Amino acid sequence: MEAFRYRADELHCEQVPLQRLVNRYGAPLYVYSQTHIVGQLQQLDAAFCRLDRLICFAVKANSNLSVIRALARSGAGFDTVSGGELRRVVEAGGDPRLCAFAGVGKTSPEIEYALRLGIYCFNVESEPELEMIAAIARRLRRRAPIALRVNPGIDPHTHRYVSTGKHESKFGIPLERALAVYRAARTLGGVEIRGVQMHIGSQITSTAPFVLAIRKMLPLIAQVRALAPGALQFFDIGGGLGIRYRRERPPTAAVFARAVEPYLRGLGLRILLEPGRFLVGNGGVLVTRVLYVKRTPAKQFVITDAAMNDLIRPALYDSYHEILPVRKPRGPRRRMITADVVGPICESGDFFAQGRRLATVATGELLAVMSAGAYGMVMASNYNSRPRPAEVLISGRHVALVRPREKVEELTDCEKIAAWLR
Ligand code: LLP
Repeated sequence: MEAFRYRADELHCEQVPLQRLVNRYGAPLYVYSQTHIVGQLQQLDAAFCRLDRLICFAVKANSNLSVIRALARSGAGFDTVSGGELRRVVEAGGDPRLCAFAGVGKTSPEIEYALRLGIYCFNVESEPELEMIAAIARRLRRRAPIALRVNPGIDPHTHRYVSTGKHESKFGIPLERALAVYRAARTLGGVEIRGVQMHIGSQITSTAPFVLAIRKMLPLIAQVRALAPGALQFFDIGGGLGIRYRRERPPTAAVFARAVEPYLRGLGLRILLEPGRFLVGNGGVLVTRVLYVKRTPAKQFVITDAAMNDLIRPALYDSYHEILPVRKPRGPRRRMITADVVGPICESGDFFAQGRRLATVATGELLAVMSAGAYGMVMASNYNSRPRPAEVLISGRHVALVRPREKVEELTDCEKIAAWLR
């Protein structure tokens, strides 16, 4: 992760030492590198430069307003999955006309909001949803631009919780049904066919599943064109491009583009991509302070002030995150230990690493949980009544606190004691 590097044994984000950030903003702390995030977008965009393309950042991966703003300024569109995400894009200055709206459970108020904003497209996941969108559009005297999210029925060989393109998944419309649904869409007033969409899963580390899925979709694209001549404008190939957490060797943007481009070039359609993790994953870390080092006869535990409520990926998916000392130990302190790195929460699942080889650490020292820019803060909760961490954005030597740390007092602000208990 080039954005995070040691200089004179001090881990930096771009030009700024992480230690200095914690001195100022406390721990645990999310730190993001704008240069890395925008650089990833530019790499992907350059890799697809021979095609008409729109890269729609999957806001669910990191929805901080400054992250969205930085990407919007660099020309990104957005893949959103709720009215809340759409609102964030608007608030951050993103263009709603470059927003796709996906998700299996869009509500009527969300559909209405998206229609009024004039979004790029609804990625429709079922027939009842299509009818709902059409009805709302007719009531508002608008036409809703739609693509069907088609489930190509392939196995992307990733964690089962983030695999979405298999037959048994809740997502999308089965490939075999899709043409019939497009046919139905043509006869419904209120919707306009614009595209075909797929998304097969997340953290995919080879090009083969993408190629396979795209190839399976091509006959459908031809059939939809025959059905509705001139209607199709785009093919959205989804997100899911993996990153390196440990020893994975995911394709680079260029390798990925080279693998899929031959199947996309001749289509004459705009190609949409929906990367989340690829843009932000290795652009963020979670810095945490060691509270205690606890030895039991069986094990050694490094207890940190961050916990599963701050970063749930290890608990939920057994994900690997590298853990680095913010200050590299020298001399005899370089001795290694094997420990579980755990948080203060009352659950055995509250760990960042188990049986991990680490340099010796002591109370008060800082650790960086790496590759935490995607699905980190966005999945954080207040479990155990813990305030969520602050977020800082770095650009070169510039530092901005882009979300202050929650205060314990705020956690009960919106709660009320029931009248009969007063
Ligand atoms: N498009 C759609 C329709 C999606 O459902 C997703 C992610 C993306 C794009 C972006 O996928 P990416 O490029 O980030 O792989 N919380 C899990 C990941 C859940 C992914 C959900 N959908 C994790 O921490 O690994």
